[in-house]
Amino acid sequence: MTTTNTTTGANGLRHELFTAGLLPADDDGEAQVDQRTADWFRAVRTGFHEQPYTAPEVARLAAAYRVDDRVLVGVYDDDAPAPSLDAGIPVATFAEFRKTLNTGAGNLVECSLITVVTVRPSHRRRGILRRMMTDSLERARAAGLPIAALTASEGTIYGRFGFGPATTLDSVRVDVKGGLPILAPAEGQVVSVDPASLKELAPALFERFHATHRGSIGRQEAYTLRATGRLAEDAAKDDPTLRAAVHLDAAGDPQGFLTYAFAGWDTSPVTMKIRDLVAATGAARRELWRYLGAHDLVERIEYGAAAPDDPLPWTMDDPRRVTVTETEDLLWLRILDVPAALRAREYAADGELRIRVIDPLGYAAGTYALSVDGGAARVEVVDDGVPADLELDVALLGSLYLGGTGVRVLAEAGRVQAASDEAVARAAALLDLSGAPYAINGF
Ligand SMILES: CC(C)(COP(=O)(O)OP(=O)(O)OC[C@H]1O[C@@H](n2cnc3c(N)ncnc32)[C@H](O)[C@@H]1OP(=O)(O)O)[C@@H](O)C(=O)NCCC(=O)NCCS
Repeated sequence: MTTTNTTTGANGLRHELFTAGLLPADDDGEAQVDQRTADWFRAVRTGFHEQPYTAPEVARLAAAYRVDDRVLVGVYDDDAPAPSLDAGIPVATFAEFRKTLNTGAGNLVECSLITVVTVRPSHRRRGILRRMMTDSLERARAAGLPIAALTASEGTIYGRFGFGPATTLDSVRVDVKGGLPILAPAEGQVVSVDPASLKELAPALFERFHATHRGSIGRQEAYTLRATGRLAEDAAKDDPTLRAAVHLDAAGDPQGFLTYAFAGWDTSPVTMKIRDLVAATGAARRELWRYLGAHDLVERIEYGAAAPDDPLPWTMDDPRRVTVTETEDLLWLRILDVPAALRAREYAADGELRIRVIDPLGYAAGTYALSVDGGAARVEVVDDGVPADLELDVALLGSLYLGGTGVRVLAEAGRVQAASDEAVARAAALLDLSGAPYAINGF
């Protein structure tokens, strides 16, 4: 069953909220989707300059979207003049669903995740994104979700809606000519497995990673499809090139998995690419790397999801084998409910701080008295005229939230206003966290 909620925006366009529409399989046993869902996916692919999915590809993705409980938004221009594309194909797309964010100290907080934002070139800069975004934030706030999250194609789009970059990932290339000499003694063993065997294991190991890594965001169904070879990198179909391995500890219990693919004999140096690496323990991570380094004929390994403070260079006596080729922001956070978000967060120390948050959209605006005692935060909204220690835009609160950047950095950048140097030191002692937050999946 699909549900629909239709409104007309101030821009005169029809906004529809619905879930992906799956139909019974056809006579050949092929899954089907309804026309609205097919048209929506077509608009998404065009928006990201990709060729359209085939009908079976759309059906596979639509089924995954249903597992995620994604709500799709389509914006329709019923009055587009001929010979415009069929009016059933949306001029803008957007989707939202919910997953938990690890906010540190073992806390998992449900957030609204925003994704597949596209607007057709003929309809750009008419406020369609703004309308879809503000409607979505309104729904999240009404549902009591304290935080919204997204990943961004460009750094300039989402700050105006109160999102700040909160985690980063490094792309690394590792020179494995002659092997990968990891110094620590081997622990347990790594076994090669059929990707299909990871159907239950991959999500279970991810949940363990998720529970223990600040910044981690819950995974959508597509990650299970990818791990099991049911979703290729550039198409929504099976990926016969995918290979997989699992680390077993000394007791024989799985502690991590890896999926990877050979980049082809044309690559120079000859390269293997990691698709996914999920380790519940440091030993599992080391052993999976050791296993990768043991592939004969391979000279380089590429990995696009290393932590900013990844231990890999420290595992060997030649740290120069590891080169960071790119650092990119991943998770952007938008705080919608400051007291709830601050209560759910981890703190490095006890202390007190008054924070004034500027929020043009209103949700987070106000002055908050934060008091941390024994790691537990109390937050009160105050209106007593006492000046705040720290004043900042809500987007920067999102950037500070997981400890991905620090108070001093933002003060030196001129982006937070502090009452005094002492206030900066007190805010840093309270809000800054050691170790980088680590989210390993996009959405
Ligand atoms: C990014 C995109 C969704 C913007 O849609 P849009 O409907 O044109 O945006 P709006 O008209 O609602 O603009 C809202 C604001 O964002 C600004 N903005 C929009 N896109 C921007 C961009 N790429 N860079 C900088 N600013 C941008 C607008 O200038 C406007 O600013 P204002 O409110 O201060 O006046 C659209 O350009 C697009 O589809 N791009 C390709 C796909 C993509 O990158 N999607 C994002 C995936 S994360």
